[in-house]
Amino acid sequence: MSKTFAVIGDPIDHSLSPNIHSAAFRELNLDCSYIGYRIIKDELSEGIESLKKIKIDGFNVTIPHKIEMMKYLDRLDESCSIIGAVNTVTNENGILKGYNTDMDGFLEPFKKRNMNLKNLKILLLGAGGAARAIVAGFAKEHAHSITIANRTIENAINLVNFSNKIGLNANAVQVEDIGNSVKNYDVIVNATSVGLKNEASIISLDELKSKTIVYDIVYLPINTDFLKRAKEKDAIIIYGYEMLLGQATRAFEIWHGVEAPYNAMKKALLGVV
Ligand code: ATR
Repeated sequence: MSKTFAVIGDPIDHSLSPNIHSAAFRELNLDCSYIGYRIIKDELSEGIESLKKIKIDGFNVTIPHKIEMMKYLDRLDESCSIIGAVNTVTNENGILKGYNTDMDGFLEPFKKRNMNLKNLKILLLGAGGAARAIVAGFAKEHAHSITIANRTIENAINLVNFSNKIGLNANAVQVEDIGNSVKNYDVIVNATSVGLKNEASIISLDELKSKTIVYDIVYLPINTDFLKRAKEKDAIIIYGYEMLLGQATRAFEIWHGVEAPYNAMKKALLGVV
């Protein structure tokens, strides 16, 4: 029987998830469809009811519903309960179970490169929903410590508390105060939304050591100013589209129980961006 999947959020027009998942269905000859479904912030409850009525088989959740959606789940995978946010839902006869594939999606590019994060010193820019999944990822991989730099220091402090609670030594700084300290880190991640509109990097990378790992979770444009500056300093680059693919392939495997066709999904994604 044909299966139906969706991504819910607002805005949803520009989501690349329908392209990525549809390419996987074509590649594996699956009788499935995947649509973008716009649900505005205050109408999540009604939106979920509609999805249940059409017996949706599963859906992804994006901004602004990742945290609010937790209320509507009947079951939580550990990934979801630790992070406190959901991006992937399965529906089995009306029972909704939530997962968070952002953490594994974030870690996937390191795994692909055989990079071990144990004992590395991390600088994380940003303290929103995505940053929280990333902190959980570094904790899981036993990084040495993490400095969380954010525009709003209160949000950074909240995330520091979460990090310390799950066993990763953390401290908070105001993003303007980073100065030349980038040379003290092994991995630097941009988990703010800065770059999406082609803005300049929010920190200076002039003092970056060569071979520092620099990862931007912004995937559009592919080459953000942050990554361009890192390349000039001979950094090892990880692109935002790699995390997007990582979370999508994990979600695919949860829903379909077979290995995701990574290359077909990558081709579909890079064809669009
Ligand atoms: P997401 O779910 O994608 O992480 P979010 O929760 O809205 O989105 O978080 C966005 C992050 O980008 C936050 O860290 C935010 O900083 P604040 O906590 O100070 O809001 C950061 N951010 C967004 N616009 C920014 C800007 N112009 N300069 C610096 N940081 C910015």
